[in-house]
Amino acid sequence: MITESVCNYEAMSAAAASIIYSDVARCLQKGERYNLGLATGNTPIRLYEELAVKLNTARLDLSLLSTWNLDEYATESRAAVPVTHPLSYRRFMEEKLFSKIDPALGFSRECTHFPDPDDPASYDRAIAAAGGIDLQLLGIGFNGHIAFNEPMSESEISVADFAALPTRVLPLSDETIAQNTHVTAGGDESLMPRYAVTMGMAPILAAKKCLLLACFAEQEKPLRAILKRGVPTPELPASYLWQHPDYHLIYTADKINVY
Ligand code: GLP
Repeated sequence: MITESVCNYEAMSAAAASIIYSDVARCLQKGERYNLGLATGNTPIRLYEELAVKLNTARLDLSLLSTWNLDEYATESRAAVPVTHPLSYRRFMEEKLFSKIDPALGFSRECTHFPDPDDPASYDRAIAAAGGIDLQLLGIGFNGHIAFNEPMSESEISVADFAALPTRVLPLSDETIAQNTHVTAGGDESLMPRYAVTMGMAPILAAKKCLLLACFAEQEKPLRAILKRGVPTPELPASYLWQHPDYHLIYTADKINVY
């Protein structure tokens, strides 16, 4: 486990882009497939810019690269929001990363995956059939969620059962609706979907490496609580990462002081 503090957002983005690029390049250069788990939100925006530059500069053959996104918003009828929705995560990925990668490198949209609210269980099967996620990038919600695995009380679910949660559709918590209205919907709550499909805790924790980034002052509270408690709890989903065998946290010291 590595817990690394860097000075600011720029440094976090550069460090994370280097970690991801090196791991991807190491496998692709050996002719191996690589399954990269991706996250959305404000945290990885700059990292994606840097990663695209690194991939384009290196001229790596990306035909063996597949991506697996953590989550997508869903409508009241539990369908994935259309890519035209301003908060669509597929749209976000297209704008922030996919379209920035030189098409000549062989990266195919057919190798970009998002969970499907119509058949969430198929996502876990597809990840397993692809050989598992090599590196999962993660942000942390202000309530400690990872992807959209929302906190639950220990009276509702055991520590072990929470870790085993599969990919599924769920209603978003009031806290998450408020947070994402503020940080991604420009304060317009009418834009915010009330449901999402999220990669489950089980496939996230099964990733070979987990890279968690934190760069907003509001993330200090869940990180501090996790470090203080020291053992996983469904009340703070990100707390499960501290038990992951290859887990790396990078946080920005200008916004967050966890000690
Ligand atoms: C959403 C996503 C999470 C992400 C979180 C933090 O809720 N489902 O995966 O970690 O936002 O977003 P931000 O990076 O904007 O802080």
